[in-house]
Amino acid sequence: MASDPIETRKSTEGMVDYNRNSSAQQQHAIMQADHIRRLVGKLSRVEPELRLVDYGCGPGMSAIETVRPAIEAYRAQFADAPIAVCHSDQSGNDWNALFELVSGPDGYLSGNGPPRVEAAIGSFYDRLVADNSVSLGTCFFASHWLSHAVRLDAPGTVLFNDLQGAARVQLAEMARRDWVTFLRHRVAELQSGGYLLVSALGSVPDAAEANGAAAAGRGIYRAMQVVAQSMADDGMLDGDVLNGFVFSLWFLTEAEASEAISGDPVLAAACEIDHLAVTPAPKNPDDLFKDEIGDPAEYARLYVGYTKAFADSTLRTQLFEPSAQTSEVADDLADEFYRRLDALYRAHTDTYACEIWHLTVALRRR
Ligand SMILES: C[S@@+](CC[C@H](N)C(=O)[O-])C[C@H]1O[C@@H](n2cnc3c(N)ncnc32)[C@H](O)[C@@H]1O
Repeated sequence: MASDPIETRKSTEGMVDYNRNSSAQQQHAIMQADHIRRLVGKLSRVEPELRLVDYGCGPGMSAIETVRPAIEAYRAQFADAPIAVCHSDQSGNDWNALFELVSGPDGYLSGNGPPRVEAAIGSFYDRLVADNSVSLGTCFFASHWLSHAVRLDAPGTVLFNDLQGAARVQLAEMARRDWVTFLRHRVAELQSGGYLLVSALGSVPDAAEANGAAAAGRGIYRAMQVVAQSMADDGMLDGDVLNGFVFSLWFLTEAEASEAISGDPVLAAACEIDHLAVTPAPKNPDDLFKDEIGDPAEYARLYVGYTKAFADSTLRTQLFEPSAQTSEVADDLADEFYRRLDALYRAHTDTYACEIWHLTVALRRR
């Protein structure tokens, strides 16, 4: 079994039916609006233009809801000041879907003097825009994806939270390095006095967990592990492939997030922490789809849709395709996986509830 990370692929290859199945992300972007307005309110008029960059923007409405409050808050202070909005993501993002939304009735281009719109394509673990050019950077629900896909000695789990021993140490080190790399690039891109607002899934201390912390969404990943293991036991998935598979994700605790910043000489010198906290989601923090618990079929449908939206490409490239001879067989494996996941949620409902904690970090460039 592989025990060294194989750093070959992107950690995400695209999101499936994202706009329809990303209500949590859309709520989250709306929830950050006051925070965004507060930060924009601290900016002076920027010449020649205010530049907003949304990193890991995705293809959906949340990308619009992320920049809208910044545009409104800046326009409220400087009515005629030019604004540039830069949406940034990997090449595989559904850019057509995004720009249809941007220019559609719910977009932000109507009215006088609409912002100049641009895109920056690439990984946020690299430099994406010019140094000293960003007034406000945002990154929502994206920076918890690590820079590369990994394979580890990870029997019994598909989530970092349940890793043990050397595999956990290896992934924790990669997560710390990635977080620092991501921030170093963003801080270099910020103008002096500019802000970076990052919000991602987080973890909280929990003495009942083997590793002393509970990760957001642990229920969903444990449900996926149960389903994948049942398919391996039935000879449908390759057991070695499953034992080496782990999602390339890490949800930082408050301590991990802040110690990486204060312990890095470049970051400590270049920026100050304006805000850093891990907090429960304001709505249904203990079960994302709690409102539907009385209807197990609907509850399961929502959980399967949500899981597919963020996990399908990873499962396909790292679990189904390596277990299959042909792409048709990989498709059949995917269908069977989601059928079993649906059945699991119908039968056990909130045993696998998705709890949500958000890590929110605002940094100011000195
Ligand atoms: C769950 S979506 C979040 C989209 C949006 N920000 C939101 O809040 O709904 C995660 C996004 O992060 C992007 N992403 C993941 N890793 C990335 C990387 N290394 N560089 C740039 N974008 C990345 C994915 O392509 C995807 O669009």
